[in-house]
Amino acid sequence: MCGIFGCILKNGEAAPTIHGALKRLEYRGYDSVGTATLHKNKLFIKKDNGKIDEVHALHDLDNLPGRIGVGHTRWATHGAPYQENAHPHTDCENQIAAVHNGIIENFAELKMELEERGHVFRSKTDTEIIPHFIEEEMKEGLTLVEALRETVKQLDGSYAIAVVSVKEPDKIVCVRKESPLVVGIADNDVYCASDIPAFLPMTNRYVIVQDGEIVVLNDEGYEIWNILDWKQVTRNPEIVDWSPKMAEKQGYPHFMLKEINEQPLSLRNTLRLQDQYLDLMTTFLDRAGEVFLVACGTSYHACLAASYMFSKLALLATHPVIASEFVEQHGKSVNIDSTLLVVSQSGETADTLATVDGAKLRAATVLALTNVVGSTLTRVARVYICQQSGPEVGVAATKTFTSQLSVLSQLALRLAKMRGKISHVEIENLEEKLEQIPDIVEKNIQTQKEKVKQLAKKYRDKQCFFFLGRGISSAVALEGKLKLMEIAYAPSLAYPAGESKHGPISLIEPGFPVIFICPKDDTHKTIVGNIMEMKARGASIIVVIEKGDEELKSLADEYIEIETGLPEVLSPIPFVIPLQLFAYYMAIERKCDPDMPRNLAKSVTVR
Ligand code: M6R
Repeated sequence: MCGIFGCILKNGEAAPTIHGALKRLEYRGYDSVGTATLHKNKLFIKKDNGKIDEVHALHDLDNLPGRIGVGHTRWATHGAPYQENAHPHTDCENQIAAVHNGIIENFAELKMELEERGHVFRSKTDTEIIPHFIEEEMKEGLTLVEALRETVKQLDGSYAIAVVSVKEPDKIVCVRKESPLVVGIADNDVYCASDIPAFLPMTNRYVIVQDGEIVVLNDEGYEIWNILDWKQVTRNPEIVDWSPKMAEKQGYPHFMLKEINEQPLSLRNTLRLQDQYLDLMTTFLDRAGEVFLVACGTSYHACLAASYMFSKLALLATHPVIASEFVEQHGKSVNIDSTLLVVSQSGETADTLATVDGAKLRAATVLALTNVVGSTLTRVARVYICQQSGPEVGVAATKTFTSQLSVLSQLALRLAKMRGKISHVEIENLEEKLEQIPDIVEKNIQTQKEKVKQLAKKYRDKQCFFFLGRGISSAVALEGKLKLMEIAYAPSLAYPAGESKHGPISLIEPGFPVIFICPKDDTHKTIVGNIMEMKARGASIIVVIEKGDEELKSLADEYIEIETGLPEVLSPIPFVIPLQLFAYYMAIERKCDPDMPRNLAKSVTVR
């Protein structure tokens, strides 16, 4: 997730406006920053890695000439956060500058083609192919807007792109597919941006750009064109009434709620990971003598769920281990045949990194899944995958958890394929279902919000909660418990449901809330028994079920229905959503700040 911005001002210099806008987009990423302006038929660029303030202190981002320009704040995906990978990127002749938010899936092959035709690349990004393509098209005689149109026709993936060219120095052309893009309209000036807050101090009039549309900004305002039929689109501006504080969170009251709602998008991004990294990691897993899945907190719960995925799909036994226990538990036995798949959103968790150090000293192979390119974990791992969730500000991990599940399930599926452990029909079905997850999650968030809010109102004064699930859903139960405890300060327990009768059931007294996670999988029949055991002792039964599960509806005091149709190994993704929402609304009801729970930090860098 990056932030892009562009502006055409009637009067004044664009650079300070771009700088201010990028600061307001910094929540979208802060690995590097850059600005390009047009002045007297020349392109002026300043860019470097580091946070905006750091780069500004070094390069004075306000000091570029010209009233037209584009800017970018980067969340590194392709290419580490180095200066040469910072946007804007240019063509061979430094005539065209482009900024981009999204992922170009087929960039490697396109780059190869361009290189064969003599183009020289300076970065490792997917974005740089864009100005080079435009350069070719413009040399063929196309205008800037036509050249961008022809360029995006060749791209697979997601993008919001803004480009300027010295050959047409009076305009910015931008285009969108699946990455956000809005146009802002002031009396004299016009803007394009990834998000409204970028231009909110200047104007509250905006137009949303839809997928497959190209926009030309100039002194007259904006023109929108549909790429497919090349017809002009008429869309009048709307008015946004956010305060600057609300704007930071795109109108949501908290980052956590914003991030819960971002899951359809972050999950879509996990479906665009580069095959070569997924395949490489799969090969390492295939060759491993033993596989440990190591992490802390929410990331550990993703590992626990993944152990079921690897076992069920690829018939690979893995050991999920809490990182702070790894050295004590396995430190002496780990060896050259061991492989650790280490999962950490931040890539900076001290317990996780200590595990890596210990394991590497004993010659084990370390693979990593993280959300932060350039983090320590990416530097110490043999191979790493960036899950591409974008920055997560709320202390509670939400979108990064479901993304981890998506990536881990893709690895399990690839391994199953590589080992020939599942049929073609099953593979195709799983691949199809994986693609459907973002839409399923989107639907569920919308349909569950109100119901979950009401549940939180009803149960807000309960002293303690119990979360139970069987099989892969026991990981979901643990995650639901962690969320509720960490942000609503509600003491909670979670167990595999079968284990509850070996001790924890003694806690149950009339009205004790027990939340059961019940997808319609092989564990469904057995969990009915566990529900009955709790019911018999007067517990208040809350079930999270698949839509139409009349049997459990009739047994429960409350139910939340999930529309899924997903196979068991993918069920944790939609099933955790209502638990995230429940924790959030409980925190609100109990007057806790969900974004900054007491005693916690987003990244725990002490052991
Ligand atoms: O950055 P990491 O994934 O390594 O962080 C691990 C835990 O600290 C983290 O998941 C923590 O449990 C979250 N606050 C949970 O919401």
